[in-house]
Amino acid sequence: MSKKICVIGTGYVGLIASVGLSDFGNEIIGVDIDKKKIEMLNNGISPIYEPGVERYLKRNLESGRLQFSTDIDKTIQDSEVVFIAVGTPPKDNGEADLSFVESVVKSIAKNLNSYKVIVTKSTVPVGTNRWIKKKINEFAPGKEFDVVSNPEFLREGKATQDFFHPDRTVIGYESERAKEVMFEVYRALNLITVPFVWCSLETAELIKYASNAFLATKITFINQMANLAETVGADINTIAKTMGMDGRISPKFLHPGPGYGGSCFPKDTMAVVQTGDKFGVDMSLISAVIEANDRQKDRMVAKLEKIVGSFKGKTIAVLGLAFKAETDDIRDTPAFNIVEGILQKGGKIHAHDPQAMDNFEKIYPQIQYCHSEFDALKGADAMVLVTEWNEYRNLNLRKAKELMKGSIILDTRNLLDPELAEERGFTYEGVGKG
Ligand SMILES: NC(=O)c1ccc[n+]([C@@H]2O[C@H](COP(=O)([O-])OP(=O)(O)OC[C@H]3O[C@@H](n4cnc5c(N)ncnc54)[C@H](O)[C@@H]3O)[C@@H](O)[C@H]2O)c1
Repeated sequence: MSKKICVIGTGYVGLIASVGLSDFGNEIIGVDIDKKKIEMLNNGISPIYEPGVERYLKRNLESGRLQFSTDIDKTIQDSEVVFIAVGTPPKDNGEADLSFVESVVKSIAKNLNSYKVIVTKSTVPVGTNRWIKKKINEFAPGKEFDVVSNPEFLREGKATQDFFHPDRTVIGYESERAKEVMFEVYRALNLITVPFVWCSLETAELIKYASNAFLATKITFINQMANLAETVGADINTIAKTMGMDGRISPKFLHPGPGYGGSCFPKDTMAVVQTGDKFGVDMSLISAVIEANDRQKDRMVAKLEKIVGSFKGKTIAVLGLAFKAETDDIRDTPAFNIVEGILQKGGKIHAHDPQAMDNFEKIYPQIQYCHSEFDALKGADAMVLVTEWNEYRNLNLRKAKELMKGSIILDTRNLLDPELAEERGFTYEGVGKG
């Protein structure tokens, strides 16, 4: 039977959960403190760029199964299941900031007018769900509820696809009653035989961190190998491709680049190290990954400076600002390091990104934003490819050469064909190509 659900927080995760769960036939109210977001969503407009999301948004709004509201109290009272999907950003010491979660927990406790299942979708450190349970028991003694941990694994840019066809769904739970409710919430996924992992709260919480820490490690591993390949005259693309042929390794996440960014890997690796510290368990491997990734980001600036010479008085075209393609998300993007590095040393920037310029401009209003990649290249001394947008893969190098003043390319994602770039008169530098 379909469920009445509220999803608190309508950001990248909460919005996808809202449209996805309503598409599964549930009645959903998405709640946010951001009035503008709620107004846009009720008008069928997505506040974020995520391919395909508006189609699901409109379809489910029209069906009447999906609504959005800022009235958190009433929405909780009317729901049987409450999903928490608010942000858990890093504090200065790397620990996850649970203040948004805590504020939602207080609202839930205040409005616990009947049995409810409280589902944590936000990425939270081990022990948080048990802490939520304790807090609600303190604020609303004697009330009936269950707590479930249901971490999210979606990838921005492929979020709808990932929500409807996940590799697995993880549910940490303690009571059979909550298990039955979650089974109904995800009935549609059960029907298409998605593997369900039913486990303890702590196991579910740690599965999420272990997965992200592993992926961050894999990226960092190939980045360091790329740096070595570059120095000894080997080709990382052939190395990565061949490594990936080994079934034990798999070719995924073996693409060298400017260092991982985004809203998850940097903060989740820091949080896992903090959790290790808290419980006195050695997490030195993950600490090393964090440090190596920071160095990789800085290495890109150093590489650029080496081929450009001094940045002073030079114009650099930065192509790509989002932390990866198919998103407008700029949280912890490697573009920050590159832009900052150029500006600090007196360079000028022409920037382009198909989706992320508005977000980037809020942080760097002083650089010039361009309507197209070619506008950005006009008069530039060098170009740096930072995000792997498809349109940059097929960049018209003949046209680029005519528009640019200089002839330098730093391709931090190995998108272009080095031989073709050189044929067109460029000095080309990729990552891991000796
Ligand atoms: N973005 C991803 O790719 C991704 C993937 C998996 C897991 N996660 C995790 O999911 C969580 C959410 O991430 P996100 O990227 O969607 O964050 P986000 O910043 O895009 O969205 C969070 C939303 O919560 C809202 N909010 C904050 N406090 C609120 C409150 N008290 N009541 C109602 N709404 C409130 C904010 O206004 C915002 O719209 C994080 O823990 C993150 O680690 C994110």
